[in-house]
Amino acid sequence: MPMGMVACMETRDTSISAIERRTRAPDETERVAAALAKRLAPGDVVALIGELGAGKTVFARGLARALGVRDPIHSPTFMLIHEHLGKWPFYHIDLYRVADAVEAESLNLEDYFDGGGVTIVEWADRAESLLPPRTIRVELNGGVQPNERFIRIVHPALRKSP
Ligand SMILES: Nc1ncnc2c1ncn2[C@@H]1O[C@H](COP(=O)(O)OP(=O)(O)OP(=O)(O)O)[C@@H](O)[C@H]1O
Ligand SMILES: [Mg+2]
Repeated sequence: MPMGMVACMETRDTSISAIERRTRAPDETERVAAALAKRLAPGDVVALIGELGAGKTVFARGLARALGVRDPIHSPTFMLIHEHLGKWPFYHIDLYRVADAVEAESLNLEDYFDGGGVTIVEWADRAESLLPPRTIRVELNGGVQPNERFIRIVHPALRKSP
């Protein structure tokens, strides 16, 4: 199966389409991110949603690598925002320490979203109301096995017209 994936399916209901993947190691999650990277362009915003240790930073690293970023990609622990340069600017934002959208507003996130690069936001659900409509949502959930992760990617372009 391509990219070491053990599951590959498209879920369709009446209003929305999503891509779902199951991974069983961090490098598989990085490859799922790299596959998404091929579809990205400057101005794209990727929202990562998942619990502690779900693999958000691993996903961000895979995306960064695929976009030519060579810097190490860690969770931005003290700095909420890390700026890198690859093929384009790459803005890595982590809202874990941000309580809610009101607090997030002070970060002027739109400057990054509209900053001519790709922006990836960990704990994006803390600032849901600030995300632009074009946001690509990536949900990561653990499975039964310790290294198992379920990744669901919802891309606005995958939305079906009503
Ligand atoms: N299939 C997998 N995909 C991604 N990470 C995995 C997988 N299996 C095990 N892991 C491990 O899970 C951990 C994920 O850590 P990561 O820092 O990416 O999580 P996170 O969602 O960013 O957490 P936080 O909210 O603390 O920032 C890593 O230690 C990684 O090695
Ligand atoms: Mg993280």
